[in-house]
Amino acid sequence: MHEAERYGDKLFAASHSNESDRLSGLADTFDPASRRNLLALGLDARWSCLDVGAGTGTLSGWLASVASPGQVTAVDRDARFLGHLADRGATVIEADITDPAFHPGRFDLVHARFVLMHLRDREEVLRRMVSWLRPGGLLVVSDALAVGGETSPHEAYRRTITGYWHMIAETIGSDRHCAAQYPRAFTELGLRDVGMDTHLPVVGLDAGFDRFLALTLEQARDRMLAAGLPEAVLDEAVKHLAHPLTRESFFAMATCWGRTPTVS
Ligand SMILES: C[S@@+](CC[C@H](N)C(=O)[O-])C[C@H]1O[C@@H](n2cnc3c(N)ncnc32)[C@H](O)[C@@H]1O
Repeated sequence: MHEAERYGDKLFAASHSNESDRLSGLADTFDPASRRNLLALGLDARWSCLDVGAGTGTLSGWLASVASPGQVTAVDRDARFLGHLADRGATVIEADITDPAFHPGRFDLVHARFVLMHLRDREEVLRRMVSWLRPGGLLVVSDALAVGGETSPHEAYRRTITGYWHMIAETIGSDRHCAAQYPRAFTELGLRDVGMDTHLPVVGLDAGFDRFLALTLEQARDRMLAAGLPEAVLDEAVKHLAHPLTRESFFAMATCWGRTPTVS
């Protein structure tokens, strides 16, 4: 049987020449908001932490500097960008989190950013992530929530971003709206103290986000053209993004959290 393509098989593969640069643009943009959220949620030096789909490991590295390094584990399907974490005392595991046999242990914090939205079986993985928490442990999941691109007054940008979201939904199963359902899903999974925060960077005012978007469109180019986006439209959108006065939206990072009940 033909296996459906998944994130990282071809599109967004870690072996792509621009992938580490693309992910570091993402991290530059969203790490400050992620760090603020985790500190506001009470991140403590004594916590054991699991960073799921750690990418370039910037947030895992930061967790190792706040919690004790020996207490931090980073997991990714492709761990080639995570070598620096071993020097900082963190544990790196190369594993597929959708594998039902994957059991990394139990943690005070399980964190995943921009991972679940790209998994077709995200509900099952979310359930398993809850099982990786100790009683009273904290689950923090951030994902993109599409904002602005599909309603932009700039026609080429609007068509390009709309084409992009549809293409990744069809090829790898990504969902640009699933984060809006997390507060309900977390509550149904029995989590307590559920909350949500959003952070919306502006395209044109954030160098990391601009780099991430440009490199994302570069990687997705052939797929978007194959899906029917005219090349002239994509080129016009890329030109628009290179203009110094362009101000657009692409997505907000929506961060949802909740705690497992403590044993009484
Ligand atoms: C968009 S990147 C986000 C990286 C990082 N969390 C961040 O926010 O900077 C998604 C990451 O999830 C990883 N990933 C995707 N599917 C995975 C799976 N099934 N198991 C483990 N990691 C996976 C990818 O390899 C990639 O590093």
